[in-house]
Amino acid sequence: MKYFLYTVLVIVLIIGIGSLIHLYKVSNRNKNEMAKYSNTATLTANLGKTLVIYYSLTGRTKDIALQIQSLINADVYEIKPKEEIKQGPSLYITSKKQISSGNYPEIINDFPNANEYDTIFVGSPIWWYTAAPVVLEFLKEFDFKNKNVVPFSTQGSNYGTYFEDFKAKAKNANILKGESFNNMDSKYDKQVKNKIIEWLNGLVGVYNIE
Ligand SMILES: Cc1cc2nc3c(=O)[nH]c(=O)nc-3n(C[C@H](O)[C@H](O)[C@H](O)COP(=O)(O)O)c2cc1C
Repeated sequence: MKYFLYTVLVIVLIIGIGSLIHLYKVSNRNKNEMAKYSNTATLTANLGKTLVIYYSLTGRTKDIALQIQSLINADVYEIKPKEEIKQGPSLYITSKKQISSGNYPEIINDFPNANEYDTIFVGSPIWWYTAAPVVLEFLKEFDFKNKNVVPFSTQGSNYGTYFEDFKAKAKNANILKGESFNNMDSKYDKQVKNKIIEWLNGLVGVYNIE
């Protein structure tokens, strides 16, 4: 019994120390990245009539989507599941199963018409190193009709194969350079905005980068 308790304690300690080291590394990486965006950026890009499509469970992706929307005066479309997706530990299990099986949750399909737009942004939270299952379902059902499509993601620290997966699944999309946004302390809000502006400015005339 004593031996068992010692083993459990050692495992918990190893996991705890490992998590702290990971958090420290991510926070250092974020700090270094944000240092690149300390100069105020000015929007010069004109991306034509633009739509920002997003899904967001806890608000991070929505925040980036709405910043893009307000910078370029875009329309916004939120991808909505038919049944509410609840946060919690079981979400990790169900979403993992959905991603592996390809049986994604049903979504409300009152889709916008891609023909009305020149550029379409699509934002997803990263779940299991790829797009959230409702976004994968959206990509299954939606036709981008040869428009310029710009993927973006928000994540803790690792976007995995999101951009490759997105490119492989988005139908009739001319993919422009995407961007990913780690969850960031609010003290970096200004830098995040500069990062968005620099990314948007770089999109004009750039094709098939990812
Ligand atoms: C089921 C699940 C899986 C996740 N998997 C990853 C992952 O693989 N990599 C990562 O960096 N973050 C991962 N995260 C964290 C989210 O990507 C991150 O918090 C995201 O910004 C949330 O976006 P939202 O607030 O728009 O829902 C995961 C979160 C959940 C709920």
